[in-house]
Amino acid sequence: MSESPPLLSVDSLVVEYPAKGILTRPFRALDQVSISIGTGETLGLVGESGSGKTTLGRAVLGLAPVASGSVMFAGTEISHAGRRQRRSLSRELQVVFQDPYSSLNPSLTVGEILAEPLSVQGVSKVDARARVKELLDKVRLPSDAANRLPREFSGGQRQRVAIARALALSPKLIVCDEPVSALDLSTQAKVLDLFLQIQRDTGVSYLFVSHDLDVVRHVSHRVAVLYRGEIVEEGPATRVTERPEHPYTQRLLLASPVPDPDAQAQRRAHRKGLAVQRQEQEH
Ligand SMILES: Nc1ncnc2c1ncn2[C@@H]1O[C@H](COP(=O)(O)OP(=O)(O)O)[C@@H](O)[C@H]1O
Ligand SMILES: [Mg+2]
Repeated sequence: MSESPPLLSVDSLVVEYPAKGILTRPFRALDQVSISIGTGETLGLVGESGSGKTTLGRAVLGLAPVASGSVMFAGTEISHAGRRQRRSLSRELQVVFQDPYSSLNPSLTVGEILAEPLSVQGVSKVDARARVKELLDKVRLPSDAANRLPREFSGGQRQRVAIARALALSPKLIVCDEPVSALDLSTQAKVLDLFLQIQRDTGVSYLFVSHDLDVVRHVSHRVAVLYRGEIVEEGPATRVTERPEHPYTQRLLLASPVPDPDAQAQRRAHRKGLAVQRQEQEH
């Protein structure tokens, strides 16, 4: 085992959104959250809608109101980074969002979208053009995609453009916030495979957020389960997604669809059993 510190380490993080009125208390969206991600590793973050997944991703990106705790990235405390530190961090820390339709500027060509982060960092036009070609190749898009507008592409292809943009500066960590949730199932599988391929090629780490346990199982080394702003379970991906210990994770597992009909039937029977138990308890 290596002794080097993890690439990302979040320790006892508390995030509070300001109160709406003067008489209400601030809303605590994350409470004492601790996670860590090693180099080349994927931590899957699951939880139902409203559990705080996006807030945690945003906190890592420096976009959430941190009340206490720390976010260490590559050995540096970044939870209260200023604008200048943010700009230099953006080389190493990137993000892919859920919605491929709103995350790309519709008036720029794909080539311009991909060249933008490069020119901000002072890369020359000639070098940027070569890099754009390389990036399109990495995400399996044809090189003539550079001359086209986002609206000419499907949802899956747009998400490939968003991934290419995130990769432009060779980051160490990408926060992926529900990056396949808006795509149909067969497109999801292809885009997930692309995430895996890129990780094998580049050694990038992912904080991979999804409400879907199946998606998370497919891409993660470890999984953390978030429930109402707290991590209730964390461990190796197969253990957490196949033999969850916490009742909340068990419920998430029962709610997620399984492709295997036998497993589906078994799960339905189990779910029925649980429902019967619950009824018996209530009566
Ligand atoms: N900007 C904000 N101001 C106030 N409350 C917010 C804000 N963003 C999120 N929340 C609240 O924080 C909780 C967690 O939200 P979020 O992180 O988006 O969850 P998830 O991504 O798991 O669906 C929710 O109750 C949500 O309403
Ligand atoms: Mg979210």
